[in-house]
Amino acid sequence: MYSLIVENIKCIIAAGGLGTRLQDFRGNKSTKILLDVNGISMINRQISQLFEWGMRKFVIITNPEYLDMIKEVTLNSFENLSIDFTVQEEPNGISHALYQAKDFVNPNEKIFFVLGDNFFENNPFNKFHLDKFEEGACIFTTEVSNPEEFGVAEIDSDGNVLSIEEKPNHPKSNAAVVGIYLFDNSVFKKIETLEPSARGEYEVTDLCNIYVNENKCLNLDLNGWWIDAGTPDRIIELEEKLS
Ligand code: G1P
Repeated sequence: MYSLIVENIKCIIAAGGLGTRLQDFRGNKSTKILLDVNGISMINRQISQLFEWGMRKFVIITNPEYLDMIKEVTLNSFENLSIDFTVQEEPNGISHALYQAKDFVNPNEKIFFVLGDNFFENNPFNKFHLDKFEEGACIFTTEVSNPEEFGVAEIDSDGNVLSIEEKPNHPKSNAAVVGIYLFDNSVFKKIETLEPSARGEYEVTDLCNIYVNENKCLNLDLNGWWIDAGTPDRIIELEEKLS
């Protein structure tokens, strides 16, 4: 079992989404990341999951409205962890959110970027020596029956990623890109070159495709369950898995 603390890595959690699909779910009037999942807020569950995977330094990206609440909930529970906070003023997409963490990353640090509502049965680094990762990007995929709802990767037999498409109508595979990404330090310069997508967002898929075009995007297959807890059904599913 992988249990070492990972050095020289900053763990950046995207927690800015309002979770419109979860408004009013169990009376929720705020952000989904503060929803209780079996009695613990989603953000604290996320930090605990990442802590178990060896992460120790965190940056949380929030919506301006919920910054204070998220600070209070996390800092009260994890007094001894290094957690920085930054705000995404406008909902301009996942890559735009990541860019808000730029000033909190040291030049010698790699970046582990996590979408706050993504939860996993197993440590994705069980089969991978994270310390050996130096350059490029790494995505994590798992086979699903509904790939059109996610980023979808086309992968060769060596695990190199050939393309990634965001929620395609005609997916080239069943390999859904889950919401965890490893990036080298060039990621912020790459984000600066992105153009908004048709829906007006700086997409994480487009960011990964810059690495793909440089032949520097590796895929790692996940095993075990994965839940993107962005809807009421998936929250209930997550609670069942965790209990
Ligand atoms: C986002 C990404 C998508 C990825 C998914 C994983 O989609 O845009 O590429 O597959 O997270 O959870 P969203 O859930 O924000 O629609």
